[in-house]
Amino acid sequence: MDTETQDVTTTEAWRALDAHRDEIAAVSLRELFAIEPQRAQALTSHAGDLVVDFSKQRLTGRTLELLLQLAEQTGVAAAREAMLSGAHINVTEDRAVLHTALRLPRDAQLIVDGVDVVADVHAVLDRMGEFTDRLRSGDWRGATGQQITTVVNIGIGGSDLGPAMVTRALRRFHDGPATRFVSNVDPADLTAALADLDPATTVFIVASKTFSTLETLSNATAARRWLVDALGEDAVAKHFVAVSTHTERVVEFGIDPANMFEFWDWVGGRYSVGSAIGLAVMCAIGRERFAEFLAGMHTIDTHFATTAPARNAPLLAGVIGVWNASILGYRSRAVVPYAQDLARLPAYLQQLTMESNGKSVRADGTPVACPTGEVFWGEPGTNGQHAFFQLLHQGTEIVPVDFLGLARSGDDLPARDGQTSMQVLLLANMFAQAKVLAFGRDADEVRADGVDEALVAHKVMPGDRPSTTILAPELTPSVVGQIIAFYEHQTFVQGVVWGIDSFDQWGVELGKTQATALQSVLAGDEIPDTGDASTDHLIEVYRTLRNG
Ligand code: F6P
Repeated sequence: MDTETQDVTTTEAWRALDAHRDEIAAVSLRELFAIEPQRAQALTSHAGDLVVDFSKQRLTGRTLELLLQLAEQTGVAAAREAMLSGAHINVTEDRAVLHTALRLPRDAQLIVDGVDVVADVHAVLDRMGEFTDRLRSGDWRGATGQQITTVVNIGIGGSDLGPAMVTRALRRFHDGPATRFVSNVDPADLTAALADLDPATTVFIVASKTFSTLETLSNATAARRWLVDALGEDAVAKHFVAVSTHTERVVEFGIDPANMFEFWDWVGGRYSVGSAIGLAVMCAIGRERFAEFLAGMHTIDTHFATTAPARNAPLLAGVIGVWNASILGYRSRAVVPYAQDLARLPAYLQQLTMESNGKSVRADGTPVACPTGEVFWGEPGTNGQHAFFQLLHQGTEIVPVDFLGLARSGDDLPARDGQTSMQVLLLANMFAQAKVLAFGRDADEVRADGVDEALVAHKVMPGDRPSTTILAPELTPSVVGQIIAFYEHQTFVQGVVWGIDSFDQWGVELGKTQATALQSVLAGDEIPDTGDASTDHLIEVYRTLRNG
């Protein structure tokens, strides 16, 4: 951390963008499309199977030129090289950041700190493959000799959201044991997950990078008790496996290291679904499909590493995110997948983006001078249309939207007896929402529809609300991998531009320590003296309620 981190707001490109904002404010998206009939084509990038259309963002060719200068002046290309080659770009933790190495092909080589990490990665993938083959074929039996029918992943944050999101997204490829995910320390989570399960046919994956996370260890301990009560201590070896970087803690917990799948400190939790943390996914879809998932990620890694900036989809998405959040002042981004199977994608992206870039100091510890870290949120379409889209269309807050749509659905109920294909209906809704957000409907157009004058103001749609549309052919393992890597790299680009360390998460530590300290206070009866009157009062209220 001895090197100073540049303040992006002092760059020439930033100053030019700041001035340029006012020029943009005066031009509508309708005008931009009228001036440039080829705008849609010009502002569409292709990355693997993803077609990413930025044309409904509030920008011109000049904006993009300046944004690419911003990327250049903040050293995005050099930072990307540093990341891909294993430099310790996570400066506050002095670690390499190598989730891209998790998806390198077997014949690649990457020596980091004297070790070929690709060989290590594939050795673990092979072990995961052997385990999941046995589990899926019924060769791996539980303590009573019965076949395993359910895998319960116990983990939280990156040790839950990635595998949970991907398993759900790949529902159509799920041909292995049933999977469940338990994350919350709320006992309701574990209790509900185990309610109808039989210990004799259940395997637990305890997934924790550090193997010290309160929620995961509490749930794993309770799950272990549930199993041991039914089948005895010896059953643990057949019903518990671990995924971690920390062998000693795994052993201390009572899991045989032969049943542990390793990953490394150069894999950040929120970037870990391609590592052994994806074990539950592999149980569900098998090693071949998992390899396709990794290959999809690798396709986007290669695109990001090698494509010219003006066509580089994650790079463009990253700098456009900076433009929206830091310069235009659009502080949040809605992610709306028009795919029910991607229902957990917004939650997954919340951790990926907000834990990465929700920082107020730069990597060298100096305060940032502009807003950072977009607030990500969302729900699948069309459900979101019937909930928050009113605000997106007519609210005072402008929220850029990422629309994600799939051309084909394996579930489609095709056109029949006069009913349109439901997949067509779904996509028609997505295109309609993006269209209305961008182009709106002015008062004259509303009047032309014969609307009562008293309602005209209510029916005007302001338009000029930016969105990006991402289209893919179908929700395959590869496409899901591509979507993840696309967001990972744009998050990285934003972090570099803002000058922050996107790979640490110091902000979550204090709350954890205080929760540990407060446990005994809550459980006890002494007058609370926690150091603040608000918490003391809440504890008193809690105790009154608890005691009925
Ligand atoms: O929320 C903080 C965090 O450290 C995340 O970054 C991480 O994904 C999660 O907790 C779980 O950590 P672990 O995998 O070590 O249990």
